Amino acid sequence: MEVVILPGAKQIGALAADVVESLLARKADAVLGLATGSSPLPVYDELVRRHREQGLSFAGARVFTLDEYVGLAPDHPQSYREVIRRDFTDRMDLPADRVLCPDGAAQDLPAACLEYEAAIRSAGGVDVQLLGVGTDGHIGFNEPVSSLSSRTRIKTLLEQTRRDNSRFFGGLEHVPRHVVTQGLGTILEARHIVLVAAGARKAEAVHDFVEGPVAAICPASVLQLHPHVSVLVDAAAASALQLSEYYRHSYNGKPAWQGL
Ligand code: F6R
Repeated sequence: MEVVILPGAKQIGALAADVVESLLARKADAVLGLATGSSPLPVYDELVRRHREQGLSFAGARVFTLDEYVGLAPDHPQSYREVIRRDFTDRMDLPADRVLCPDGAAQDLPAACLEYEAAIRSAGGVDVQLLGVGTDGHIGFNEPVSSLSSRTRIKTLLEQTRRDNSRFFGGLEHVPRHVVTQGLGTILEARHIVLVAAGARKAEAVHDFVEGPVAAICPASVLQLHPHVSVLVDAAAASALQLSEYYRHSYNGKPAWQGL
């Protein structure tokens, strides 16, 4: 796991966008795993800027999103299918039929979860997976004590997560209680994982998953088992890390050709 401490969200967005751009340069039909929520917005804004100003193209790419609320209509403004369309894919040259999301409105949710896993497999797996992290250490919507080898399935949200997300829904009572999410085992199959986090409210979760034990109580800690994870954080999100000086020293001394 490589931890990169950056001055702010803009620099986090630029470095994560570099990873995506260099992937697309070597593989135009790359498979991207995308997260919703606030954390990846600077990455999406930077990719859109490069698309508009420098011709970065997503025309051959495919996208799989991580998770979805259960029970929201697919065109509900807070369904993650809508959020990723608004925040990113509609602003790029990415055909809508190349963006797949878990189906939280399916009649048969377990069958829809199996189909989603099969679709990721038949696309050849995810090349780069972008992640945020919840204040309770969740990735996707894998809440604490999720199985470390879980697959796409239905989960119940923690009240803490519902409170965190109530800002998008205009009140806690409107936040769904259930979600479908790629499992931790599913996420771990991505070839490169880039997790972005900013702000002091993420500091404890960042410390726990980077430097704490691998434990289901902090689902993101499973990333310690993955061979290629880049954690991009600002100083506030890094403020509880014990080895922050070491991370700065290692990144500053890294040869430029190495990339992330
Ligand atoms: C959303 C997702 C979640 C968020 C996490 C952090 O697709 O997978 O794990 O990344 O809840 O949310 P923000 O970025 O809004 O703080």
